[in-house]
Amino acid sequence: MTYREKFFELKKLDNQYINQTSIKSLLIDNGGFVDFFDLLKHFDEEIKDENKLNKQIDRLTSGEPLQYILGYAYFVNSNYKVNPDVLIPRQETEQLAVSTMTKIVRLFGKDPKIKIVDIGTGSGILGIYLKEYFKNCTVICTDISLKALEIARSNAKDHNVQIDFRNGDMLEPISNESNISVIVSNPPYIRSKETVSSQTLEYEPYLALFANPAIKFYKEILTSIDEQLLHDKKFLIAFEIGEDMEEELTNLLEEKYAGLLYSFDKDMYGKTRFLYIINNKDLTDALN
Ligand SMILES: C[S@@+](CC[C@H](N)C(=O)[O-])C[C@H]1O[C@@H](n2cnc3c(N)ncnc32)[C@H](O)[C@@H]1O
Repeated sequence: MTYREKFFELKKLDNQYINQTSIKSLLIDNGGFVDFFDLLKHFDEEIKDENKLNKQIDRLTSGEPLQYILGYAYFVNSNYKVNPDVLIPRQETEQLAVSTMTKIVRLFGKDPKIKIVDIGTGSGILGIYLKEYFKNCTVICTDISLKALEIARSNAKDHNVQIDFRNGDMLEPISNESNISVIVSNPPYIRSKETVSSQTLEYEPYLALFANPAIKFYKEILTSIDEQLLHDKKFLIAFEIGEDMEEELTNLLEEKYAGLLYSFDKDMYGKTRFLYIINNKDLTDALN
């Protein structure tokens, strides 16, 4: 069977999981093509491994996420390995990565020699993206899941970057560190199962999703950041947050960290999904 025949056969199925995007991705992957245009050039060729493709389609039909079937996910212009031990990178997190990069440039310059920590790194996307951009910085990535760190290490190798990976609970792996300039984190923040798709619940790691209460990890990170870590220095904290957390986080910041400057940012749907914190009033512009 040719790629063209398979494409139109699958297109007839068009359902929640088998749609134009997933069909294209599987066919591109099967032929080892570069992109959709490359697939079109080979559209009338025989499928290289039809058996493998049919198995992948069965997995897709049963609801398994495309990225776990392919073994990789796309994140800001690049592919990263993923498996069910790590969260599949989300579009919002791409926004967090790029926006954090922009803020680092504004605060510290183009290629600063600073220390950046990614807490709850999962597949490693945030830390690896920043290390690729800021070659001179030191990046430490932490996660409580050893299995997630295995994938993150492998991604760092694929992206040819040196990262210090550490296993442990929140800031515990960096408790002896000093002079940290940037903390970036997309911690678990989902309150209840009801707000999550059945596909995510079934396939993605529980550990990456839920926090009780939802604010728990932000509170932990903020309360553990004492003067020893960030004393008197310029620093940036960049968080992805749940869309209903602005008020709770504002209250926390106003109660305990009145001296810090912070700003919330929205995602493409207009939902408040990011929180950026700095400690230097002269640098307010960097938050915008
Ligand atoms: C929402 S996922 C984010 C993964 C990745 N940074 C991303 O943005 O795709 C949260 C990550 O935090 C990790 N995690 C959960 N509890 C943790 C804890 N107590 N300490 C450190 N990491 C934790 C999970 O294993 C998971 O990899």
